[in-house]
Amino acid sequence: MDTKSDSIPTNASTATPLAMLISRRAVLGGLGAVAAAGMFPRLAFSAPNLETSAQALSFTPVAPGLDKQLGIAPGYGAEVLLRFGDALTADAPAYNPQDRSAEDQNQQFGTGCDYIAYFPLPAGSTNSNHGLLVVNHEFSNTHLMFAGVEKNEVLGGMTPARTAAEQAALGVSVVEVKRGAGGWSYVQNSQYNRRITAQSYIRLSGAAAGDKRLQTHGDPSGRLVRGTFGNCAGGQTPWGTYLTCEENINFFFSGALPKSALEETENHRRMGVTGRRGGYAHWGRDDSRFDVSVEPREANRFGWVVEIDPFDASSTPVKRTALGRFKHESATVVLSADNRVVVYSGDDQAFEFLYKFVSSKRYNPLNRAANRDILDSGTLYVAEFLVGGGLRWLPLQYGQGVLTPENGFNSQADVLIEARRAATLLGATPLDRPEDIAVHPQTGAVYVALTKNAARKQAQVDGVNPRADNRFGQIVAIFPERKNHTATTATWDIAILAGDEESGTAEFANPDNLTFDPAGRLWIATDGAEDSIGFADGVFATTLIGENPALKQLLRVPEGAEATGPCFTPDGTTLFVSIQHPAADSENQAAARSRFPDYDPALPARAAIIAVRHNDGLPVGG
Ligand code: FEO
Ligand code: CA
Ligand code: CA
Ligand code: CA
Repeated sequence: MDTKSDSIPTNASTATPLAMLISRRAVLGGLGAVAAAGMFPRLAFSAPNLETSAQALSFTPVAPGLDKQLGIAPGYGAEVLLRFGDALTADAPAYNPQDRSAEDQNQQFGTGCDYIAYFPLPAGSTNSNHGLLVVNHEFSNTHLMFAGVEKNEVLGGMTPARTAAEQAALGVSVVEVKRGAGGWSYVQNSQYNRRITAQSYIRLSGAAAGDKRLQTHGDPSGRLVRGTFGNCAGGQTPWGTYLTCEENINFFFSGALPKSALEETENHRRMGVTGRRGGYAHWGRDDSRFDVSVEPREANRFGWVVEIDPFDASSTPVKRTALGRFKHESATVVLSADNRVVVYSGDDQAFEFLYKFVSSKRYNPLNRAANRDILDSGTLYVAEFLVGGGLRWLPLQYGQGVLTPENGFNSQADVLIEARRAATLLGATPLDRPEDIAVHPQTGAVYVALTKNAARKQAQVDGVNPRADNRFGQIVAIFPERKNHTATTATWDIAILAGDEESGTAEFANPDNLTFDPAGRLWIATDGAEDSIGFADGVFATTLIGENPALKQLLRVPEGAEATGPCFTPDGTTLFVSIQHPAADSENQAAARSRFPDYDPALPARAAIIAVRHNDGLPVGG
């Protein structure tokens, strides 16, 4: 989701260190001199995009445009696989565009589809025709979900029953899917089908679990949360679990902090929990957990990464607090050479940071159960980008450096709950809204989408954020030292500067989700191009070869929508994509700007998952 509030910084320390005041060209041209001066002599610079041997992209791109339809490259087709409201259980009622109860919605596919992960069946196989699709449901367009609600209306048209139904439409879905002669379909009433919603029970684990700042009237233990929401991007672990990231959690809270909890003031301010009664004010009105004046610490229980076992519908999801609390966009998992688990995660708000978690234990490929709690212990780091292309990972470790009681940190729980404030004190580099992250399967380079940041002033321009009033975004490549993801040093460069005539990217803007296909090409879904360059968002691909690698557009979404969650089957012949918030700008259901995916005048626009394939079944992209 792209919202105005993501663009408004809550990080007051946005000044750029003098050392960073250089341009990309200066980085490339001046590196030798800087390195010779001994500023980071241990680092060997590697230019971006050089080591890949990705196969060429052979398709003819779809033309950029903006209309009510889904546009797709010639020779490709898109099937609608899952829609908001589709029945997942045997008894689930059919989708009712007007209204629904929480009981109905708990048995139906959710809305606001974002990140997608595909887990082949049987587990551990590479089956590309049968598997589990796990999907994030980030947020709802209340005015398109229920009849009689107007866009930007606060409280109007919403009842407690509707609020409960909306809460049941967010979170995560697990759905069994199959491809047969008729194409892709989902399996209704599969034993795996599952909804995890804003009311599901979720365990807290790791260093912050049980901390008094996570205790509420509803859960004095501070170890059992109800729900997950704001689920944006995510990740997949090598042991077959799903990671979902809680991003814009602040929208769902309203009400002022009571006098008894004023010590949370700065923490809530930094996370955007302002007490304001915005578009989800009915949550606070109808469910006291979301009224900060009643439950001042409930918001501290969101903004985490949640681990879900999609193969066991009775398993309890777990919030892994060791990965820190912020507006997690993504949780991209990679194994180090010594089998430790590294999770890269962006914090998507203007002038926020890039993090990575390194587990202290090693992944055990022979014993799935042995990896169950591996994400509970390790070190969380934040990135400091240095002049000349260097990068340091700074540990967020209680008691080290500035992370002490003098600065309001009395435990590792405090450091994790207020990761943003800790990272600022450590000197992390404020970025242009870090979204998704993908690790190149061959080179190990870490690609980070920085979606945009119009709030950046000229005096705040630096190498990694090279433009003021940045409305288009960029993709940064990070090269871990000796390709070791546990290393605390790396180099970096800008791989793609979006919306830049000189780089040949004038028709590409606002990179959000990233994924590599099996042939080593990077696929990019965009969010916000309608506003920044006047074209619909879409899905693009690049081989990453060359200084200004060429981009090819595979599809574009209908008006008002965003392309999210691109996900390949292991053989690369199917690309699943979420079409999020179609017609979001419409005033209400009746005045829908588009009626994707069914184009039935009786039905409003709905979020949906599409399956994109080449007409002859060749790998997507060629
Ligand atoms: Fe939910 Fe940062 O996109
Ligand atoms: Ca999104
Ligand atoms: Ca976004
Ligand atoms: Ca996103």
